[in-house]
Amino acid sequence: MHSREESRDRPAPRAGAGTAADVRINPSILAADFVNMQAELDRIAGADFVHVDIMDNHFVPNLTFGPQMVGRIQATSPVPLDVHLMIDDPERWAPEYAELGAASVTFHLEASAQPIALARRLRAIGARAGVAVKPATDVESLFEVLDEFDQVLIMTVEPGFGGQSFMPETMPKLRRLADEARRRGSAVWLQVDGGIGESTIAQAAEAGADTFVAGSAVFGAADPDAAIAALRSSALRHSHAR
Ligand code: DX5
Ligand code: ZN
Repeated sequence: MHSREESRDRPAPRAGAGTAADVRINPSILAADFVNMQAELDRIAGADFVHVDIMDNHFVPNLTFGPQMVGRIQATSPVPLDVHLMIDDPERWAPEYAELGAASVTFHLEASAQPIALARRLRAIGARAGVAVKPATDVESLFEVLDEFDQVLIMTVEPGFGGQSFMPETMPKLRRLADEARRRGSAVWLQVDGGIGESTIAQAAEAGADTFVAGSAVFGAADPDAAIAALRSSALRHSHAR
């Protein structure tokens, strides 16, 4: 039996109200104006999570920002953070983002030496643990680690840059993952990232995604919150509950 004192010490759930049947829209601030970040965050108050792309110029040929910037965003964002690490050696860096208070921390399977151990560390800190795969990585490699994660990210472009075209050839992989998750009765969230917008979100939802990252489609819109609402209703129309 836990006393009230003890339960206050346990990590509070940072996000995740809802079920696998819900959809989530996570705008990527890679497409935001970096020097006006506070104003940009305020424009997406209707989002479920803010997707924060961390690139190290090694795992991907591009560079964004690190823990110092993420700490500031965490302190000021009204929406919880969904951190996507496109970096080598996530074992060294990922826990720091969880310690900063990110709701979820996702690292790439291709970059991780010990994905299960790292997932357990992230969860112990209180973050949702996420694993991502690039378009060329086969889905079977996820099956042995699936049960250790709260979310899986199927990249729908080559990671590194915003504004690229959605790759429909990644959809069979998403379908197989969704089937496997359903077979296991798993509550894992299935996320897609890259080229998601009005014209592509339906096929990703139909293939089994429930969590959608969108950079240019949200921050490129005149009214980002209206774009989020439109994406959400399209995803809901095409999603199927697990
Ligand atoms: C790409 C990043 C994405 C990117 C998506 O490597 O992981 O999160 O911001 O941008 P859009 O939605 O413009 O393709
Ligand atoms: Zn991303």
